[in-house]
Amino acid sequence: MTRRVGVLISGRGSNLAALLAAAKAPDYPARIALVLSNRPDAGGLGIAAEAGIPAETVDHRRFGPDRAAHEVALDAKLRAAGIELVCLAGYMRRLTPFLVRAWAGRMLNIHPSLLPAFPGLDTHARALQAGVCLHGCTVHLVSEAVDEGAILGQAAVPVLPGDTEASLAKRVLAQEHLLYPAVLRVVASGAAGQAAAGDASLLNVLAAETLPRQVLRERPALQ
Ligand code: GRF
Repeated sequence: MTRRVGVLISGRGSNLAALLAAAKAPDYPARIALVLSNRPDAGGLGIAAEAGIPAETVDHRRFGPDRAAHEVALDAKLRAAGIELVCLAGYMRRLTPFLVRAWAGRMLNIHPSLLPAFPGLDTHARALQAGVCLHGCTVHLVSEAVDEGAILGQAAVPVLPGDTEASLAKRVLAQEHLLYPAVLRVVASGAAGQAAAGDASLLNVLAAETLPRQVLRERPALQ
């Protein structure tokens, strides 16, 4: 069965592009059925249009300070399109409990750090500042606390001597584009129920350059 996925974006849309590319595979268990942006100038809207995917802007500025009203509008569009899973892909609005609860266990986010390290913004600069040797990205379920939901998968990269914020971001982003489709494949193919039950680590993806490119480790089925 193929799950209908809605993708929420605010900007460039490179993770959206990675999900769209993965979903072209005939055996991929999800297809991107709707893209919603809160910003009319999001580059990802053009990517969706090129791929022939319905895409719309629900501009948060129309709703003033009423965040929940904006989310009610998003939620209505997701439901009208028969969406079953939601992927946040560079969606830069903090969610209220309304949308989080409406999609509990069915909403994923990608974050550019190895959570729980470096939640929030400016993750690459903070990783360099902290002097960590490993950095990376995380796909997790969205919970009411920002960047704290159950971790579904991670990809790690080394921090190399001489790295700048830009060079590190580029290395991490390449892994984001592998990780997000890999995790969505697992979730969409039926493990979503386990994820909803709050189980951490449905799989781990390690992609440090010194390690095998991808190691997927699926949890044994729950008893
Ligand atoms: C990515 O780094 C993602 O991890 C973060 O926002 C960025 C979005 O990039 N949440 P893009 O719009 O997918 O290119």
